[in-house]
Amino acid sequence: MSSTESLEPALHELDQLQAQAAQAFESATTADAVEVARIEYLGQKQGRLKAAQERLKTLEPAVKRAYGQRFNGVKQALEIAFDAARSRVERRTTAAGGIDVTLPGVAPRLGHRHPLTQTADELIDIFGRFGFAVARGPEVEDVRHNFDALNIPPVHPARDPLDNFYLSEGTMLRSQTSTIQIRVMESQPPPVRVIAMGRVYRPDTVDATHSFMFHQVEGLMVDKGVTMADLKTVLRLFARSYLGEDVQIRFRPSFFPFTEPSVEVDMLWHGGDRWVEMGGAGMVDPNVFKAVGYEPEQVTGFAFGLGIERLCMRRHGIDDIRLLYQNDVRFLDQF
Ligand code: PHE
Repeated sequence: MSSTESLEPALHELDQLQAQAAQAFESATTADAVEVARIEYLGQKQGRLKAAQERLKTLEPAVKRAYGQRFNGVKQALEIAFDAARSRVERRTTAAGGIDVTLPGVAPRLGHRHPLTQTADELIDIFGRFGFAVARGPEVEDVRHNFDALNIPPVHPARDPLDNFYLSEGTMLRSQTSTIQIRVMESQPPPVRVIAMGRVYRPDTVDATHSFMFHQVEGLMVDKGVTMADLKTVLRLFARSYLGEDVQIRFRPSFFPFTEPSVEVDMLWHGGDRWVEMGGAGMVDPNVFKAVGYEPEQVTGFAFGLGIERLCMRRHGIDDIRLLYQNDVRFLDQF
């Protein structure tokens, strides 16, 4: 075999090595990939450049020089390609704050609003269209706002410690959102058109339709000439908007110290086999107006207080109020 014949294929292999290594370093996009390419081509023990160097020893002296020169060029090109790849991936990770932006991201799990919050938001929306603004009040209340100003006399059974969460002599967790009626009327002259929403607390035994804490939406409208017909119209329109055109509601005569006359409002439950109370309502009692400095001879008004849980349950066909508090995502995911 002549020396030139063994030189040509050897040089060709060197060219191939250079081309493949350049391709490997160029296409490496992560530090790990650059390292894999480095080991394959520049590795001290089994790297392909090392193998090419070993081959020098097997060549005839006459061609060694030519091979050696080409080998040096290839070696230099590989080192440059490696350096370029390494600084390229380093730049990329530090530019992203040490994060490898080429890795696939972690998909965030998107939550959504709790069904009760959805209901509350929708109520604000519906009553907003009827011209009702939103008022707020504290959950820790004084007995004046929870009872006295609402015409509930000191000896009334509704004040019984067994039926309320008292915190001290004069303060308690509010048992109804009617407290906010008082707070609103104390802070502004008539006319009034507000709803108020929030938690109320009663030491009820927990069952499918009762809880020691639940939410109410309170409504209050005071103006010249407001009548019971306005109350019934507003509640009917509201029930149709929230529960659907085909919903049936009924008004039953009742008693509340702060309204006269008073009614209880029922809705035909999903399934249509029974009536469930959705709240109380009535015409604001003159004694309540007197307690807040309004003139009962000049204005009249209506008020209502509805249970938000029951509205939500009727709307979605939920049969157990406790499901709304357990925060089981298998349940919550359905809304
Ligand atoms: N506050 C009453 C309750 O919690 C409901 C109600 C509100 C009744 C407003 C009449 C007027 O039972």
